[in-house]
Amino acid sequence: MTRLAILLASAVALSACQSLSGPVTGARQIAPVLATADAVDPHSFARPLEARVTNVALDLAVDFAARQVAGSATLDIQRQASAREIVLDSKGYQVSRVVDADSNAPLAYNFGTGTEALGRPLSIALAPTTRRIRIDYRSAGDGSLQWLQPSQTAGKRQPYLFSQGQSIFNRSWIPTQDSPGIRQTWEARITVPEALTAVMSAPSASARPLAGPGTRTFTYRMAEPVAPYLIAIAVGDLKFQPLGARTGVWAEPVTLPAAARELEDTEKMVETAERLFGKYRWGRYDMIVLPPSFPFGGMENPTLTFLTPTFIAGDKSLTSLIAHELAHSWSGNLATNATWADFWLNEGTTTYAERRIVEEVYGPKVARQQVALGIDALESAIQDNGGPTGADTRLAIDLRGRHPDDGLTDIAYEKGSAFLRMVEANVGRQRFDTFLRGWFDRHAFQPVTSAMFLADLRRELVRGDAALEQRLQLDRWVYGTGIPTNTIAADPQAFAEVDAAVAAAARGTLPSAAWTGWTTDERLRFLTRLPRKQSPAQLDALERSFGLNETGNNEVLFAWLTLAVANRYQPAVPALERFLTAQGRRKFVRPLIKTLAEDRSWGRPIAVRVYRQARPLYHPLVTAELDKLGLN
Ligand code: BES
Ligand code: ZN
Repeated sequence: MTRLAILLASAVALSACQSLSGPVTGARQIAPVLATADAVDPHSFARPLEARVTNVALDLAVDFAARQVAGSATLDIQRQASAREIVLDSKGYQVSRVVDADSNAPLAYNFGTGTEALGRPLSIALAPTTRRIRIDYRSAGDGSLQWLQPSQTAGKRQPYLFSQGQSIFNRSWIPTQDSPGIRQTWEARITVPEALTAVMSAPSASARPLAGPGTRTFTYRMAEPVAPYLIAIAVGDLKFQPLGARTGVWAEPVTLPAAARELEDTEKMVETAERLFGKYRWGRYDMIVLPPSFPFGGMENPTLTFLTPTFIAGDKSLTSLIAHELAHSWSGNLATNATWADFWLNEGTTTYAERRIVEEVYGPKVARQQVALGIDALESAIQDNGGPTGADTRLAIDLRGRHPDDGLTDIAYEKGSAFLRMVEANVGRQRFDTFLRGWFDRHAFQPVTSAMFLADLRRELVRGDAALEQRLQLDRWVYGTGIPTNTIAADPQAFAEVDAAVAAAARGTLPSAAWTGWTTDERLRFLTRLPRKQSPAQLDALERSFGLNETGNNEVLFAWLTLAVANRYQPAVPALERFLTAQGRRKFVRPLIKTLAEDRSWGRPIAVRVYRQARPLYHPLVTAELDKLGLN
């Protein structure tokens, strides 16, 4: 069968299925799951063409003493009449009972065999009339959720809880079909100790929390169908500060003023993004600044971006992070990778879009520099992934039998972004912008694949122009390895002054005066372009000239510590230990600890000491990986 035929057949099957299940809860029709071979998700046990979840209603109490959320999930189901069961994903949550939510009749269920990475399938028997099921359960010990003691927060007084769903972690606390191609509307009632506030990645559904005995209950409702990895929660001593008409920030009270100052350009970014990519479709754009153990820079949870506090530099120099997470409101949250094999459609498109926002808000020079830094990062990523013929240098990557986060490399971000820049350069910015806006509109609230992206490009932009088709090398970019020959080079002038200083440094002269006037991006270019091999005397000179051990800019500090560790530079070790025990951002802690651990004689003892101290701070998804180094 051709792809088109499969698609048509599945559309017929699904519309039959929809008429069987009656009207769907939620504001809009739930997008059908794709049924092409490239949209089958190897990281989920669900069989959505037989029975799929369309709405999740959570009713949960947050128990800090037990480190569990417990309660129920009621699932609306769309099913084939012949379906005998529905299969959900699970990883560690415990079920006490499953019932038909309309009749209260118990339903049989069982956990099948699974894998370490994916967890286990939960199969629930369906009666012929079952349309809604209720699962009584409590969450897993770890997974998506991280439980922090008061001492691990900024305020030191109250405990804290947050979730990280992407890529396949929400199956530890939400019993549903955990695949990005199975979109679901959702709602939640969350009961917490009365001193705390619960926020989620959805509009609030009540003006005020409901007061109970020593508790408060918050309600949220996401009326748009979203990928389940985008359901997120944070609970803590939280306060809100508005930034603009539809933007604002949540944080612990002691963090809030600095957070709000750093984020003051947010409303302008939203306006800019709307001009570029079309209407912002999620209502509010709020952010929450999490405790330092948050494992990512940012996470694009709808209506509520989650942020690391490590982006607060005091001078707004790291706010391209906000442009990035905001851009996901189109690329990723509207048009969502159907499976993790097409992760580049989320991240590459977002990285391209991020720099378009940065260009409008901070000017073309800054944007050009960030593009150039991205190209350097792409070249390193190619090297780290087996060179130009490495299988994982493909945009559409084969993740069968592996964890989806094996695909979380700069290939997705930077090769994806370079691909879109190449198309833009060939067809012109105006035509490309029209295409991109159209792509988001045509696929809003739907899963997308690489094949769909290429088909749209051909239909809307190539339009049978054989010369253009040949110039673009579309298939080579998406399905081939390495960087195709038609890539657009970085502007050699983007960092002219810094590059001259790098050359001078190699001859022994440091840019001592110039450094003070450089931006963060210029400092990063300098530190990442220096020869990797540096003598102790050279590192001493760098440290003395620029006070690198003391820098308050975490990206600069990371670039410095990377160089220091590669050269066994002892005077940086106290700063290194402080950095690794003060925050748990995966991008920072993983490469440093790995490099230390692999350096048997010098680094490993440091790694052992630091990891013992830092481990309680790190999120389970970070410790799961670092524990494999055998340091503890
Ligand atoms: N969605 C990602 C984070 C992510 C990806 C989490 C895959 C889990 C699995 C987010 O948008 C992101 O890319 N964050 C980056 C920052 C960005 C500026 C490159 C990060 O966390 O460093
Ligand atoms: Zn991203």
